[in-house]
Amino acid sequence: MPATADAIVLFGATGDLARRMLLPSLYFLDADGFLPEGFRLVFTARAELSTEAFVEQTRQALSARPEGLDDAVWARFAGRITYVGADATTREGAETLKPALDGCKAPLCFLAVSPSLFEKICGSLAAAGVTTPDARIVLEKPIGRDLATSHHVNATLGEVFAEEQIFRIDHYLGKETVQNLIALRFANTFFEPLWNNLTIDHVQITVAETEGVGARWPYYDEYGALRDMLQNHMLQLLCLVAMEPPADMEPDSVRNEKVKVLRSLRRFTRMDAADKSVRGQYTPGVVSGKTAEGYETERGKKSGTETFVALRADIDNWRWAGVPFFLRTGKRMPEKRTTVVIQFKPVPHSIFGQASLMDMSPNRLVIDLQPDEDISLTLMNKAPGLTQGGMRLQSLPLSLSLLKTYEGPGARRRIAYERLLLDAIHGDATLFVRRDEVEEAWRWVDGVADAWSEAGLHPRPYAAGSWGPSGAFALIERFGKAWSD
Ligand code: BG6
Repeated sequence: MPATADAIVLFGATGDLARRMLLPSLYFLDADGFLPEGFRLVFTARAELSTEAFVEQTRQALSARPEGLDDAVWARFAGRITYVGADATTREGAETLKPALDGCKAPLCFLAVSPSLFEKICGSLAAAGVTTPDARIVLEKPIGRDLATSHHVNATLGEVFAEEQIFRIDHYLGKETVQNLIALRFANTFFEPLWNNLTIDHVQITVAETEGVGARWPYYDEYGALRDMLQNHMLQLLCLVAMEPPADMEPDSVRNEKVKVLRSLRRFTRMDAADKSVRGQYTPGVVSGKTAEGYETERGKKSGTETFVALRADIDNWRWAGVPFFLRTGKRMPEKRTTVVIQFKPVPHSIFGQASLMDMSPNRLVIDLQPDEDISLTLMNKAPGLTQGGMRLQSLPLSLSLLKTYEGPGARRRIAYERLLLDAIHGDATLFVRRDEVEEAWRWVDGVADAWSEAGLHPRPYAAGSWGPSGAFALIERFGKAWSD
């Protein structure tokens, strides 16, 4: 059994991720009694601040949230905090953390900092002796920008930490409905016999955002939608849809199955670039009733980076041979929506005659992850009433209405990081990404990027507030399907 962490050391504690996600998540874990007795919160960043000043900043940030602060919980939470102003990329900086960790055996080091600092911070933590055999390190994406750089980062981390000590976050895995995909597939008997190329026609995964890139362009311009979203969140969703049943929920059982899927992804070729993928970049437009600037205006100059990507992925194995997976993600789309659609094959023969042919639509399992959570299965029914010339049909959704789960006093949607922090504290790596998983995902994504550059495939413009370039519709239509919007 991995040791339970006795402290978190949060690097980048004054940053955006810490303020918006990590501090509230830790507070909610404390409120729900999930932080172990004596668990310390050691916050660190370069800024020179006293613990009192940091505690006050944290109190203000947390009280501005809609949930408000509970006095007793806050008193307990604030009592756990120490702030250390330090440059953790140097050994001397890392040394200054030691008094706050005196007596701690299993610190959880969370790097909420620029990935360019990962290697330096790990090196200085090791040199200063902050790491212990039971210490853990938690990292945010991106781990590298391609296979070679991710390999380098992983190798350097591996010099300081064993793989079991490294927790790579993909925050999508902390989302309740993403975990629900596992429950849906493996806690019900009736999906599994249908979950293959005999019954499923194709799969669509859409992650649409209304937000633009804005001030994040220095990072984003180097990555683009392929590396920022598809390499990680979308491939994780694809893996959870496509993987074989793991023997149990042990970290390696689940991760082994995901790696097998990634290895089975068919490599993109130069020919596939134009045939099976589309890149887009937003131009000025209107999103949610407000005018929005184009990407190049935000960026301040011309750019060849895509803010939209749609592509067809193929999984070459027995279960999925011949079933296309259409993936689509973009910034400045008309709505924020993350949806997985499993479309089943049409009935082999209709007994209902000519009139009903127009009514028929294939069954679809629609898994909405954001903004509302819902799982629905569309089923064909008889349209009520009297008709002449044959029965008329209609498609109706059988819905789990997960929205109701979040109704009622005290009910709230959890931040994905609550689950991930709790698991990292207890050393459960099931929802974290293993080294070979990251590297296999990069291997495939590198193939797509190489195919694009060999074929000279540039982003096509699309107006902010639209569903991407027209080529995205043509792409899926070429294979006889349509986006399920
Ligand atoms: C991040 C990406 O990983 O995920 C962002 O870097 C993106 O560009 C974000 O906006 C989306 O996360 P969510 O949880 O809002 O869907």
